[in-house]
Amino acid sequence: MTQPTANSIPSETNFNHSKTSLNSFAPRLLDWFAENGRHDLPWQQHQTDTPNPYVVWLSEVMLQQTQVTTVLPYFARFMDTFPTVQDLAAADWDVVAEHWAGLGYYARARNLHKGAKQLAEIIDETGDFPQTLADWEAISGVGPSTAGAIMAMGLHHYGVICDGNVKRVLTRWAAIDGDITKSATTKELWALAERLTPTENSGLFAQAMMDMGATLCMRSKPACRLCPLQEDCLAHAEGRETDYPVKAKKQPKPSKFSDALLIENIDCEILWLQRPDNGIWGGLWSLPLQFVEKIDGKANSKITGKNTAKKPVTSDDKSSSLASGVRSNEKVYETEFTTAEQIINEWLIKNELVTESVSNTLLDDAPIKHSLTHFHWYLTPRKLTVDAAQTIELNEKLAAAEIDFKWLTEQTAQDSLGLPRAMIKILE
Ligand code: ADE
Ligand code: SF4
Repeated sequence: MTQPTANSIPSETNFNHSKTSLNSFAPRLLDWFAENGRHDLPWQQHQTDTPNPYVVWLSEVMLQQTQVTTVLPYFARFMDTFPTVQDLAAADWDVVAEHWAGLGYYARARNLHKGAKQLAEIIDETGDFPQTLADWEAISGVGPSTAGAIMAMGLHHYGVICDGNVKRVLTRWAAIDGDITKSATTKELWALAERLTPTENSGLFAQAMMDMGATLCMRSKPACRLCPLQEDCLAHAEGRETDYPVKAKKQPKPSKFSDALLIENIDCEILWLQRPDNGIWGGLWSLPLQFVEKIDGKANSKITGKNTAKKPVTSDDKSSSLASGVRSNEKVYETEFTTAEQIINEWLIKNELVTESVSNTLLDDAPIKHSLTHFHWYLTPRKLTVDAAQTIELNEKLAAAEIDFKWLTEQTAQDSLGLPRAMIKILE
């Protein structure tokens, strides 16, 4: 998706508001922002004479899928450890991952690290950060709206944003009832955002739009009474604010079940694996997972409840289901297991090792539910104690396949590795 070019912008008559309404949008919004907006967020550069694009890029990537209050401490730690883009580019991935751990959507962290390297290289060559929208969009993890935000807020050039918050405000204000997941609607919204963004102070306008979306025009119960757009907001006029934005009904998410193995050696250390860069939790450390069963959320929705979901993961025939592979799901098995996990699975089967429930009572044995973008993941901790000879054998097998692994106590792992939030949940 790219921002529409000038010749794809519909003519003025294609907008649902009069020229007067369209022209007064920005001044009304900016007046409201001056009085009521947030002016103390640490990444804000609109009051600065020399804005820092690194700060805006970093914060925008963090804010893509995460709320301001969650981002604040992470942003502070990043700026502390990596005060410049060169610091971030030069950092070891493990250090970056450890700083990101808990923020979720880890692909963002990998893109951030990659993006930092790209930016450092560009600065080496040209002496400065990228200066055009297209050059920013070429940076890993930067989409059209983030690029617009960086142009406007990070460089004080002209830039247009049209992220989820903006789309919510605009679909309501203009009663745009097309499905926002469709490209025709996206185009329409970009065109409107561009029409409304003033050529001067587009950074201030971008920040004001974000604040409007976050503090007034909220998903549920928008505070229309306080809104500077209330007088000509078409959704408000009909009392239909929350009918917008229109979004195609999502398919229910499928559920997936895995055992998370706490393989403990005689020194009370647990085996940790670094996950491959691609795929879930790429580059982070996790317990070895053992695939149990994958069930279509639609056909089996009744087992997504906490109690009933226990069944497939705690039933006694589980080890046999591991031993026999995953008959009807061979493909899922192949793609979702890492090499290391396959090695461990085969090793368990060969040695007829059986993992044990971690808790004493069945009732405490419910899996930990972890929801990701495309599925719910039910993770059940299972324990296995290995003796010295078994530890050596396992080490040899993993080393032979060039797997990155570590034996660390729970505490040391929590303190020194970038662990996904689900792993922390399991340790707790
Ligand atoms: N969400 C995305 N970008 C933001 C910003 N700069 N300030 C507040 N919320 C945001
Ligand atoms: Fe959103 Fe209400 Fe303002 Fe319309 S009037 S833009 S629905 S807050």
